[in-house]
Amino acid sequence: MKLGVNIDHIATLREARGTVYPDPVVGALLCEYAGCNSIVAHLREDRRHIKERDILFIKKAIKVPFNMEMSVNKDIVDFALNIKPEQSTLVPERRRELTTEGGIDLMNRNNYKKVEKAVESLKQGGIVVSLFIDPNKKQIEKAKKTGADLIEFNTGKYSEAKSVAGVKRELIKIKQAARFAKTLGFFVAAGHGLDYENVKDIAKIKEIEELNIGHSIICRSVFVGLVAAVEEMFGLVS
Ligand code: PXP
Repeated sequence: MKLGVNIDHIATLREARGTVYPDPVVGALLCEYAGCNSIVAHLREDRRHIKERDILFIKKAIKVPFNMEMSVNKDIVDFALNIKPEQSTLVPERRRELTTEGGIDLMNRNNYKKVEKAVESLKQGGIVVSLFIDPNKKQIEKAKKTGADLIEFNTGKYSEAKSVAGVKRELIKIKQAARFAKTLGFFVAAGHGLDYENVKDIAKIKEIEELNIGHSIICRSVFVGLVAAVEEMFGLVS
């Protein structure tokens, strides 16, 4: 299992006080030192945590692939085409949301058209494109039509499920979706809300090849340090 570490919340801490520390670029290097397979950062339209400067320096500093999470907004797509991360993960974005709230709804024609256009531009620029979608057969089929290279399943509902039955139900959806996505030839990733406990069952799904995890790792790092927090997560997923 590959582990991508999302370092957005190092920047959240920095922005809480408007300081220059902690620097997500240093965080990215420490995650790389700890053995992660990729670094993930989300340049949100409101720039609430990661800024252009972070994206620029992270890309220059790290050797593992850089996965830039982003909306389909033209300015952001153009910025990515300029920086050329190895991968772009397209996510829906709502200004007031606390964090990404769900996968992109590709059944919505307007969304689909924008995504298709962004996928085409990014791929032409030599960037591998992933779509963050809910674990749903129709969404997967639509994702295939866009020409995206890979998909990442939103594990948010699974992570937030309150009852044992709810967790089980969401886990089954993810397993079935992963199996179906594989038959279409997708590389399958998953993420959102995964922590040191709920990650275990997701890591057992053999069709899922990569997990992208941020908040829980950065929170753990406050107590044990970033390298130890990444290593500990690696121990659970690999
Ligand atoms: N994958 C995607 C597409 C995301 O939007 C996020 C959150 O930025 C993550 C993974 C990581 O989620 P979390 O911070 O809850 O681990």
